[in-house]
Amino acid sequence: MKRITRRTMIAGTALSSTAAFLPFKFAIAQNRPIKLGVMLPYSGTFARLGKNIDDGLRMALKENGNKLGGRDVEYIVLDDESNPAKGAENANKLVARDKVDCLIGSVHSGVAMAMVKVARDTNTMLIIPNAGVDTATGEACAPNIFRTSFSNWQVSHPMGTAALGMGHKRAVGVSWQYAAGQEQVKAFAEGFASGGGKIEKEIYLPFPAVEFQAILTEIAGIKPDVVYAFFAGGGAAKFVKDFAASGLGRSMQLVGSGFLTDGTLEAQGDSAEGLQTTLHYGDELEIPKNISFRNAFKANTGRDADVYAVQGYDTGQLLLLGANAVGGDFSAKQKLIQSMESATIDSPRGAFTFSKSHNPIQDIYLRKVVGLSNKVIGVAAKAVVDPARGCSMAT
Ligand code: PHB
Repeated sequence: MKRITRRTMIAGTALSSTAAFLPFKFAIAQNRPIKLGVMLPYSGTFARLGKNIDDGLRMALKENGNKLGGRDVEYIVLDDESNPAKGAENANKLVARDKVDCLIGSVHSGVAMAMVKVARDTNTMLIIPNAGVDTATGEACAPNIFRTSFSNWQVSHPMGTAALGMGHKRAVGVSWQYAAGQEQVKAFAEGFASGGGKIEKEIYLPFPAVEFQAILTEIAGIKPDVVYAFFAGGGAAKFVKDFAASGLGRSMQLVGSGFLTDGTLEAQGDSAEGLQTTLHYGDELEIPKNISFRNAFKANTGRDADVYAVQGYDTGQLLLLGANAVGGDFSAKQKLIQSMESATIDSPRGAFTFSKSHNPIQDIYLRKVVGLSNKVIGVAAKAVVDPARGCSMAT
């Protein structure tokens, strides 16, 4: 039999008294609201994207009495300016100073990676409502990190195969020089090469620059069949207009991941008409949840929903589901994570579940711009699972 020493007795006493006080401690914790640390761009080229994510998130919670697992909700909101250099400091502020129960963010892949690092270091829950950086659910995957949007690979690889189907052989990739741009162009190239297509050149400009004339001149000289572009927000609006004005569209096709034309059609006007893109959402999907969601979003905000609004809303849905499973006790992490891992999200994009690396398993639609709508004209790839390269949870 183990000999009882003074040390083991004290340890044992301490343990049982902690256990005895647990319900009391939890009761106190239950009185305070659940704190959500929302880090999004509310200024700059991605400002509209951040606003729609924020509005979608709040709408999901509002539909459920603004409670998470029976507790009130406090939003602590921070404009991350899509600036990766300030990402870690901002996320650390939310965790250390504000003691948030869950981090939510961001749009920009570089900012999201800073948040991933903080979430890993502090074991704080993180839900990514947009940024596609492959590493977040790849090499840096972790039990406490979920993504409700997409991976960069997931939305652009199918465009590579779709471009082959359109008969193209030679491509140019163009984007901003940062993780999202590079990963998307490379994933497009991977899909395109799988059927013998070739990327003649990858052209990058610094984020968030929008001086496209020199690039368009270079593309004119290369004369590819197809141009794959990743731009979003204000940058996408300008690129599509400049491409149309250059006349290049007469001799080559412009394609991209759907961010090129999502939330931007009003600004792009006629210049976007007919453009084909791939994405995990389309405006007029005839899914009852999409129809009710779009009506509610319009009634709440006066604006039309887009992919960003959907992702914000689904972030709210995931939070609700997790919080309800643990009765609002976010410290019950294992149970919280388990419930989220096994969730089916009733999304306007179509219901989805999570892969082992915590990225959505979802259909990638082929869409075509008709007037002010990104109309779904087919499914480019069905139930796409991100390869989650380097993720230990996925093996
Ligand atoms: C990203 O940086 O991952 C990003 C930004 C804007 C988008 C999509 C992806 O619309």
